[in-house]
Amino acid sequence: MNHLDWVTSKPHQPLHGSVRVPGDKSMSHRALMLAALADGECRIGGFLEGEDTRATATSLSRFGVAIDAPGPGERIVHGVGMHGLRAASGSLDCGNAGTGMRLLTGLLAGQAFDSVLTGDASLSARPMNRVIDPLARMGARIDSHNGLPPLHIHGGHAMHGMRHISPMASAQVKSALLLAGLYAEGDTEVVEPQPTRDYTERMLRAFGWPVDFTPGRARLAGGYVLHATDVEIPADFSSAAFFMVAASIVEGSELQLPAVGLNPRRTGLLAALRQMGADIRIENERQTSGEPIGDIVVRHAPLRGIELPAALVPDMIDELPVFFVAASVAEGRTVISGAAELRVKESDRIASMASGLRTLGVVIEETPDGAIIHGGRLGGGVVSSHLDHRIAMSMVVAGQVARAPVRVADCAPVATSFPGFREIASDCGFALRVAS
Ligand code: S3P
Repeated sequence: MNHLDWVTSKPHQPLHGSVRVPGDKSMSHRALMLAALADGECRIGGFLEGEDTRATATSLSRFGVAIDAPGPGERIVHGVGMHGLRAASGSLDCGNAGTGMRLLTGLLAGQAFDSVLTGDASLSARPMNRVIDPLARMGARIDSHNGLPPLHIHGGHAMHGMRHISPMASAQVKSALLLAGLYAEGDTEVVEPQPTRDYTERMLRAFGWPVDFTPGRARLAGGYVLHATDVEIPADFSSAAFFMVAASIVEGSELQLPAVGLNPRRTGLLAALRQMGADIRIENERQTSGEPIGDIVVRHAPLRGIELPAALVPDMIDELPVFFVAASVAEGRTVISGAAELRVKESDRIASMASGLRTLGVVIEETPDGAIIHGGRLGGGVVSSHLDHRIAMSMVVAGQVARAPVRVADCAPVATSFPGFREIASDCGFALRVAS
């Protein structure tokens, strides 16, 4: 990866305008996978042109699925049917994508052929036993390097359904098991300690596969077919989150974020920021492809610290890094707990944010499952992205209210989830340039 540093620089100006953020990452991965197994041609609109989701498309092509890209954000997937995938020669590179690797592992566990999945340095350090162990109990055989990638998924093993009581709130684990369950004899059921995003369940239903689900529980039986259907993917709430926090904390700002996905399992940040006093309105609520969407309007407002309710954490798991930034400029203290999962994301996000914010002068105590952040004024400095897209963008947001320039080292990973972030941010008033 080439080294690309970004610098935020004074003078700051209010943020204004309408910001169109790219399509939802979670839905883009899933839409590709279900369309690949469907019985015909599916059109995907609003597809995220990020490195993560393109890696999933490349893997599926290597299994023999023809995928056309008629225009940016569009894919036509020529589904091969439930038993139409063919062995790929060589290993498949999932890049930086935990969702890609874990969901594909479930999908591949019940195939007739072997597959090998690899990833970049960050993904190669992420725990895979959370999917390997339950899949093994369903009959799969998967070799790893002590629970880490690369994963060798052995084909030709008969899968059987089971009930899995998941120890962690993880939509990736749930989804991997449900995808394996499509090929299993009998019922596969996943029970979660706290409800997580339900895109796999909703999208399977849209493709005509019966799924029984309520928040925190999902069950399906194997042996049906997926009927080709078109999917329209809304803008990614997690990408919109950087602009929601930025407009909340930069004085005089007002931003519109049109057509953002508002699945209730994703919008914890909205509730958290409102508790802090943020001025955020949702307008024009509607549905697209069975998902709630709406236009978000954010105005600057003074924020005050809160004790973040632990129940909100799974609904804002990817937004916590930028929430740390909101807490850093809020009046008073913010306490975050119940977020130990942050330590096994693209980086250890508690440690990454604590070290970056400390460099900017924030008083922040790390705890095993969160942090205590004392709000104040931010200074400048050089911080690292830790090769984590969301850390890079969060530190750029922090730089919008810092009294001196913030240099964020290694911003190239932003392209995994948010290609065009720098240009889109600059257009609405972010002080941000590529470092020379
Ligand atoms: C995702 C689930 C979450 C989230 C990730 C996307 C998904 O991961 O952090 O960005 O698409 O299912 P976990 O399942 O590890 O919580």
